[in-house]
Amino acid sequence: MLSTAILGEVRRADLLRFTTAGSVDDGKSTLIGRLLHDAKAVCEDQLARVQASSLASGREGECLALLTDGLKAEREQGITIDVAYRHFSTPHRRFIVADTPGHEQYTRNMVTGASTADLAIVLIDARNGVMTQSKRHGFIASLLGIRHLVVAINKMDAVEYSRDVYEAIRKEYTEFVAKLGIQDIMFIPVSALVGDNVVTLSERMPWHGGPALLKHLEQVHIASDSNLIDFRFPVQYVLRADADFRGYAGTVASGVVRVGEEIRVLPGGQTTRVARILGPRGELQEAVALQAVTLCLEDEVDVGRGDMLCHPGNLPRTTQDVEAILIWMGDQPLDPDRRYIIKHTTTTTRGVCAELAYRIDPNTLHRQAATSLAMNDIGRVRLRLFKPILCDEYERNRQTGRFIVVDPDNHFTVGAGLVIDRNRGTGTEDPEDHPARKPATNIRRQPSLVTPEQRRQLFGQSPVTLWFTGLSGSGKSTIAYALERRLIDSGNPCVVLDGDNVRHGLNRDLGFSPEDRTENIRRVSEVAKLFNDAGLVVVVSFISPYKEDRAAARQVIGADRFVEVFIDAPLSVCENRDPKGLYARARAGEIPSFTGISAPYESPEKPDLCLDTANHSPDELVDQVWNRLAADKVVS
Ligand code: ADX
Repeated sequence: MLSTAILGEVRRADLLRFTTAGSVDDGKSTLIGRLLHDAKAVCEDQLARVQASSLASGREGECLALLTDGLKAEREQGITIDVAYRHFSTPHRRFIVADTPGHEQYTRNMVTGASTADLAIVLIDARNGVMTQSKRHGFIASLLGIRHLVVAINKMDAVEYSRDVYEAIRKEYTEFVAKLGIQDIMFIPVSALVGDNVVTLSERMPWHGGPALLKHLEQVHIASDSNLIDFRFPVQYVLRADADFRGYAGTVASGVVRVGEEIRVLPGGQTTRVARILGPRGELQEAVALQAVTLCLEDEVDVGRGDMLCHPGNLPRTTQDVEAILIWMGDQPLDPDRRYIIKHTTTTTRGVCAELAYRIDPNTLHRQAATSLAMNDIGRVRLRLFKPILCDEYERNRQTGRFIVVDPDNHFTVGAGLVIDRNRGTGTEDPEDHPARKPATNIRRQPSLVTPEQRRQLFGQSPVTLWFTGLSGSGKSTIAYALERRLIDSGNPCVVLDGDNVRHGLNRDLGFSPEDRTENIRRVSEVAKLFNDAGLVVVVSFISPYKEDRAAARQVIGADRFVEVFIDAPLSVCENRDPKGLYARARAGEIPSFTGISAPYESPEKPDLCLDTANHSPDELVDQVWNRLAADKVVS
């Protein structure tokens, strides 16, 4: 039977949450209206009403905007975060679009609408080209961890559907986004007003090789985006129905929880087990991220609102000093001497900005010295809170890694914060700052007398690195060595670099902290690069759980030689296989920071190859890799 965690993922893939960001008059409302209208996703009576009211003006663009602007009344309720969610569906997928009102307040709108989004559409007016705001939107999307970006170059009708205009914008924006590390980006030339490339492909732009917007929204792959590893349950209410019943209500922020599992209460520290899980329709055996449930515990422990339930081997940070990226949205600038209200999960506390390290220029992404942050500014800060919060890095956990800053006088939301790890950057720093990447001084590269082409001829192959990433027990080593056998049997010189083996020698000084894993990957990528330079095909078989580290490996080895291969097997399958008995020991608490149990694994978003080891034999999968190598002319 499929577990609810897996079913939940399947259901998630069925649903795309997205947000739109544009400057004033970029046509955001028109675009959403067009999408709803042409996809026939609007209720008929609503459409009739809107058509009637815009007949007088006779302008279709206004009609479409009215469809979405009709929500304004709902929004103006004086709630701190005002964002309205529009649901619609096509036969292929359900959609929730965060529809955010407002004009100058675009940053606030984007942040509030985007915090749960899988995808962001950045609108660029073809007549105006790339503006600072367009860059800011892309930057915020990357800060918020939105993995999929669509750049809709709108109003193509107003530039006579010019391919040159489109290409110039695409080139400029691509260069900018390259610094952000957003991996999935799609450019689509559209006219929301006329309907070109929104739902149907436009005959006026036959040069656009990609899909129409809706098709892309229907197809974009998002299934692996949620955090099912780190169980976090911020308690919202304590329910006491009668003397015998005590339950803790809330929403699972991330991870999975099952009946019978050991639970730690934070900050108290007591340990007990889950006795029951109650959902809206009765008893459950497990609950997954974003499900609202009530948990009953086996023992009487002291739990209150704002406490957090977690697994004992995988705990968040408890801290009063929070390093964060702060996106400022207040009319009044950030005042370093002022006490603000900080709302984080179900906790509210007060805090001051103890340090403003720098502001980030959205155009260049460079750091600037700053003494304050004005509206729409983004900066790196350290906050000193009056009581500790239980948080994770935003990159790893969108729910427990973010907070909002509220003005204590008028209760307006004035800032949104994203927690960062002191040792991990924002992606905006100079790579030369990184000690491990800094070359030593007084050294010079020595040239070889043998060219890569001569090596290619000698070995009869174009060397690549097949980078196998996946959970422990997913089958990396099995396939790697079977592939090595196949390559050698066909006369292709190759070598396997396996995590367990390399950790016996070169990397025997490294453990499993995030920093050590990063260094582990850095060293093996340098080795892979040397082997590739020598002419050998390399199969790297390392868990390599952090996407940042894999991206760095791609850089070291060279993007044209790097083939990311996701050895894809669900955690439950790996745990069942447990070839080395490590999962059992990790569950028993004997191995700390074990990938998949108490340390994260970040699945590749767009691997070059995905091998499904749960449903295919190693031989079949080796065939798949071989075919790919043949197609890429690595081997012949
Ligand atoms: S990585 O995360 O740094 O890429 P690597 O692939 O080198 O990991 O090593 C993983 C191997 O180390 C696993 O296959 C397993 O045998 C062993 N191991 C021991 N402790 C851990 C741990 N805490 N997490 C993951 N693997 C571990």
